[in-house]
Amino acid sequence: MEITSHTTPVGLLGRPVAHSKSPQIMNAAFRERNLPFVYLAFDVGEEELADAVAGMGALGFRGFNVTIPHKVAVMDYLDEVEEAAEAIGAVNTVIRDGSRWVGTNTDGAGYIRSLMQESGFDPKGESVTLIGAGGAARAVGYALARAGANRVTVVNRTTSKAEELAARLSRWTRAEGAPPERLEEALKRSSLVVQTTSVGMHPQINGSVIPEKWLRPGLLVSDLVYHPRETRLLRDAREAGAKTHEGLGMLVHQAALAFERWTGTEAPADRMRNRLEASLD
Ligand code: ATR
Repeated sequence: MEITSHTTPVGLLGRPVAHSKSPQIMNAAFRERNLPFVYLAFDVGEEELADAVAGMGALGFRGFNVTIPHKVAVMDYLDEVEEAAEAIGAVNTVIRDGSRWVGTNTDGAGYIRSLMQESGFDPKGESVTLIGAGGAARAVGYALARAGANRVTVVNRTTSKAEELAARLSRWTRAEGAPPERLEEALKRSSLVVQTTSVGMHPQINGSVIPEKWLRPGLLVSDLVYHPRETRLLRDAREAGAKTHEGLGMLVHQAALAFERWTGTEAPADRMRNRLEASLD
């Protein structure tokens, strides 16, 4: 839709933002739905964050996304922080509600939507192994626990971080932290394993966090790495007869959920996925 005096702005705050694909994905979605919105990326430093948020309020922004380095600091400027952002410990989406700013985090819910739609897997009542204990693991762990997973075992190279994340998750599910030596045992009782570390990305492109001999039919192997799309882990899993779920869908659906919060309209997730795929090639 043409940009006019009625166009509503939304955007992204971060540093750097030059390589973000969000403007292409979001603007393609607004065009697809014929909505009078425009999405812009703003390179904002930490000392400018307060002014940027106040300025967006004054300018009538419907909301914004937040990326590094503002995902935690932005909470100071919000009127409300929803449970998801509080539990994950980071905000990725902010919504204007009258004169208030409401912060949330769509990463976890985006992951669950992707998992259910693309793999037909409902985590309710299932036992899950979560590999890694960083920001991505916090988002996915929270969402799996909230979706009713019966048991979550967090396995991480640094065991203390696995234990810390498990303690957070124990509000909603049976959760425990474990060292890598207990991965085999955790996998044996799991129907889903989620790989959230950077192993599989450049430059660890040939790495995998799970030895092939522990992969089996009946296990769903989910890898959050989306570039490359086909990781060593996913290849090994398929060869072992396991089902696989790739990381791109989480990226699509976290954006789709932000779109829906701002516009009140169902997001064109397929169009967003196509636009994202085109920008990754
Ligand atoms: P993100 O926000 O993407 O989750 P992060 O917060 O930096 O990134 O977390 C990275 C995760 O990948 C951590 O769990 C890290 O393990 P440690 O806590 O032991 O550092 C894990 N990770 C990164 N490289 C790894 C490797 N080569 N082997 C195993 N785990 C790795």
